[in-house]
Amino acid sequence: MEQQNVFASRSLCVIEDFSIEERLYLFEQVKILKRAMENQDAATLEQYRIDDKDFGIYEVFLEDSTRTKESFRNAANFHHAKVSELNSDSSSFNKGESYADTFYTLSGYANTIFIVRSKLEGVCRWLEDTCANYAKRNKLYRKPAFINAGDGKHEHPTQELLDEFTFLEDNNWSCDSVHLALVGDLFHGRTVHSKADGLKIFKHVKVDLIAPVELAMPEAYVQRMQENGYEVRLFESIEQYLQQSDVADKWYFTRPQLERMGDRILQRQAELRRSITFRKEFMDTLKAGTKFYHPLPRHKVTPTIPTFLDETPFNGWERQSINGMYVRIVLLALLAGRIGSEFQPAKLAMKPEEEDYIQEVDLSCQQLREKVISEGVQPIHDGLVIDHICKGDCPSEIRDHMRLISSVLGLDEAKGGEWVSTGHKDGTLYKGIIFRPGLYELSRKHLKRLSAVAPGCTLNLIKGGKVVNKYRLHLPPRIYNFEDLGCTNEACISHPDQSEGVPARFYRTNDNRFACAYCGKKHTFKEIWKSRKK
Ligand code: CP
Repeated sequence: MEQQNVFASRSLCVIEDFSIEERLYLFEQVKILKRAMENQDAATLEQYRIDDKDFGIYEVFLEDSTRTKESFRNAANFHHAKVSELNSDSSSFNKGESYADTFYTLSGYANTIFIVRSKLEGVCRWLEDTCANYAKRNKLYRKPAFINAGDGKHEHPTQELLDEFTFLEDNNWSCDSVHLALVGDLFHGRTVHSKADGLKIFKHVKVDLIAPVELAMPEAYVQRMQENGYEVRLFESIEQYLQQSDVADKWYFTRPQLERMGDRILQRQAELRRSITFRKEFMDTLKAGTKFYHPLPRHKVTPTIPTFLDETPFNGWERQSINGMYVRIVLLALLAGRIGSEFQPAKLAMKPEEEDYIQEVDLSCQQLREKVISEGVQPIHDGLVIDHICKGDCPSEIRDHMRLISSVLGLDEAKGGEWVSTGHKDGTLYKGIIFRPGLYELSRKHLKRLSAVAPGCTLNLIKGGKVVNKYRLHLPPRIYNFEDLGCTNEACISHPDQSEGVPARFYRTNDNRFACAYCGKKHTFKEIWKSRKK
């Protein structure tokens, strides 16, 4: 039986889309290709070449770029493929066309790999899904693959690949440990955000974050690094960093994007730039073998790595940039299925087991207990009672959330009410109860909706004075298929203000929050519902 190429037609939307094992395989291939390029070894290079003038690679850059765009273009030319570029200044984006319609059109013209840069976060994940459906309904030969060439402040996974390759090159190919200082605009920089998961290729990771508070790494990424087991330290300036002795041997600088930050910050720009700019006087404090990296561009007037460093052994950024084309040649060869068929993952990714988060209680086993009627709540003859809402929260929060639940379930116009009480067993924990007299039938979709908006609650359906159905509802593994939900990140493709018609999708994280499937923003279950479209 022919072995399946696990890389063919895959998308790379975030760095985690390729497992550690897959990335290490890719780096092995880049090593071989780079050597072949340097030695002009035509026979080896031929093994990597797609060599198909009809293989469509399309660049769609809706933000400026030199390195990513041109290294991909040169990589695609290496492959003797059909290389196209959408001119965003004169495209029908300017007539209000959606991303989906634009990429459907381009997919229909025999294009297989799209390289997309946009300020909208999560755009490639959306296009990967929706264009797969388009390819199916139009019987296209292949489903298109998407490569994220930088999406807003979110991720830049191909930059991460070339950074990791360069770090390994300078680490004698050892994955044992890395000590990296990230310096500069850690708030806006998507290249440093990709490091939160990217650096997992190393067994021991120490990251020093050097940025003034105005440009500090967002808390969500710091938290992710810590969850991934990295040792993380924070400093406000290079000067402060060098006052202690445990200094990294790899420094990764990023460009301050102060222009995005309003007048108050601009007034302080000289001071902020100084805190993250390397100076001659610091040179003696560095360890032998220290390397500096930068995704580039650096600013010609205010570079954080000044040009006096170009001719020193600290210069790692030029080789880093050159590696970009090699990494991208190999990435295109993998997604095209030209190489990679001999790669076998050590363990196949397991499909998560379906969770029973809606549990119907077997009422035949339940002993009838005399109900203690407390605080004015009377049993209802027919209707529904949702109990144990937001158990443990304070009464005002519970009331707010009950109003939301009532609205989400469409119960606002019905008889009944909301109540805040304490449990019989624990008189100190508050909980909410919603009761609605009347005849109710609830569908599976209603139960899913209730699980997503009131996890931990119990739903009782009452007919003729008896509980006929009782459900315990737990936190669902995913929240999706609700038209009124949207991600709260305004830069996300699924935010309602983007008007892209992208249905929100969230998946539960290890800390029982919900990450947007497109931009990764984490929400509590309450936050998801607060931003819902009415
Ligand atoms: N590193 C990087 O993304 O550079 P460009 O913006 O020039 O593509």
